[in-house]
Amino acid sequence: MKVLGIAGSPRRGGNTDLLLAEVMKGAVSQGAEVKTVILNNLKITPCQHCDACLATGRCRIDDDMQMIYRELEEANRVVLASPIQFMGPTAQMKLMIDRCQALWARKYVLKIPPLGTKQERKGLFISVGALKIANLFEPALTIVKSLFKVLDITYAGELVFPGIDEKGAITKHPEALRQVFVTGQKLVAKSY
Ligand SMILES: Cc1cc2nc3c(=O)[nH]c(=O)nc-3n(C[C@H](O)[C@H](O)[C@H](O)COP(=O)(O)O)c2cc1C
Repeated sequence: MKVLGIAGSPRRGGNTDLLLAEVMKGAVSQGAEVKTVILNNLKITPCQHCDACLATGRCRIDDDMQMIYRELEEANRVVLASPIQFMGPTAQMKLMIDRCQALWARKYVLKIPPLGTKQERKGLFISVGALKIANLFEPALTIVKSLFKVLDITYAGELVFPGIDEKGAITKHPEALRQVFVTGQKLVAKSY
C-alpha cells in the first residue's frame, strides 16, 4: 500500500503541512509506505496547451512533473493538501493539476487508463482556510474532485477546516489533528 501525499502550500510546516504529516503518520502506523512531494520545492512549468499529449498521452515538458506522473502511477492512495488561496487551491497545486492534462488525453482521446490498471486508487483532500464562510471549500473541492475523476481515482472524501490562519494555528485544534491521523489509518485499509 503506497500513499502519495502532495503538499500544495508555499509555507513549510504550515497548517496543511501539519495535517498532511498526520495523515501520513496514520498510514505508516498501519504499515503503509508513504511519500510526500512538496510542490513548492519543485520546478513545474504551467501547461502550455501545446496539445502534444493528445497524440502521445505524455507531456513533452521535461521537468519535475515527470516524477509526479510516475508517483501517481505507483500510488494506491493520493492525498492532496492545499490551503485555500483566493477561494481556490494554491497556484502550486493548480499548476500540477493542469499538467494532468496529459492524463486526461490518455483517458479521453487515446482511450487508455490514465494511470494504468495495476491497482485501484483512492483520493483524499485536505484543506484549511482563514475565513469562516459558507462554501469556502466548494471551488477547490470541485477542482480536486474533477482531477480525481479524470485520473480514475475514487474520491474518498475531504477533511477541511475553516478559521485557520496563522502558521501552526491548527495545533490549537488537537481534535482536527487526531481526526486526520485516524483518517490516515482508515485510508489504507483495503475496505476504505
Ligand atoms: C495569497 C493568499 C490568499 C488567501 N486566500 C484565502 C481565501 O480566499 N480564503 C481564506 O479563507 N483564506 C485565504 N488565505 C489564508 C490561508 O488559507 C490560511 O492562512 C491558511 O491557514 C494557510 O495554510 P498553510 O499554513 O497550510 O499555508 C489566503 C492566504 C494567502 C497567502
